[in-house]
Amino acid sequence: MSIKRFGYMGFEVADVRAWRAFATARLGAMEASASETEATFRIDSRAWRLSVSKGSADDYLFAGYEVDSEQGLQEVKQSLEAHGVAVRVAGQELLAKRGVLGMIWCTDPFGNRVEVYYGGTELFERPFASPTGVSGFQTGDQGIGHYVLNVPDVDAALAFYTKALGFQLADVIDWTIGEGTTLTLYFLYCNGRHHSFAFARLPGKKKLHHFMLQTNSMDDVGLAYDKFDAERAVVMTLGRHTNDHMISFYGATPSGFAVEYGWGAREVTRDWSVVRYDRISIWGHKFLAPA
Ligand SMILES: [Fe+2]
Repeated sequence: MSIKRFGYMGFEVADVRAWRAFATARLGAMEASASETEATFRIDSRAWRLSVSKGSADDYLFAGYEVDSEQGLQEVKQSLEAHGVAVRVAGQELLAKRGVLGMIWCTDPFGNRVEVYYGGTELFERPFASPTGVSGFQTGDQGIGHYVLNVPDVDAALAFYTKALGFQLADVIDWTIGEGTTLTLYFLYCNGRHHSFAFARLPGKKKLHHFMLQTNSMDDVGLAYDKFDAERAVVMTLGRHTNDHMISFYGATPSGFAVEYGWGAREVTRDWSVVRYDRISIWGHKFLAPA
């Protein structure tokens, strides 16, 4: 598989200032750059991993997937084009903005921007230091985490992300969200992380349901939980997911979608076999009404 990891993410947000406070003081990310209209944040040795750009959507803006070389980029480009996807090649301005050596981008069947790049910028000379003392985030070969999109057509999503982009299906969860209402969540992987991307046809208009960051210590999750709880910003209590075994909670972001903050996930193995579940969690993950 050419795509190796989920490497960065961008959000369009109405309140950049609120996000700067949120990303640093709640998530424990380190601010890398900031202006009135944009900000970027670090969670490891890379120059940036999360980005916010001012706009009215308060939603997903782009996801960036990493390949290891120019050859990997060309392989993904060929696969996309073979599946009838229009591919754009990033120019110098965009490459400089992302801090990468090469990049192509396209949109999924629903207009969501997907970028594929290689040659991200490493800043070992400026070590990551969390402003809240997070011991570290699980990134490296597993990428930065995962995100979940609300899509209008799960079959079209599955075809695009598995056939054109080359992700593997890890499992599905039939999630009963109310009397007689069951959604099917699809979880996709591109490395050892159980899922880098998941999707479902969800109620509501927002495209992004949540994004997830994984810390190196359970105490990082507990300490963040207390910070969210103090602001009545926990939207789902601590729990452990059935499929990736992540212990996590969900918190509100300034943009209405959620952040999952977790630790302790298991990884997919080489002989992984697709299964299905009837529950999203082994225990916990109870919804709390927002304050
Ligand atoms: Fe998640």
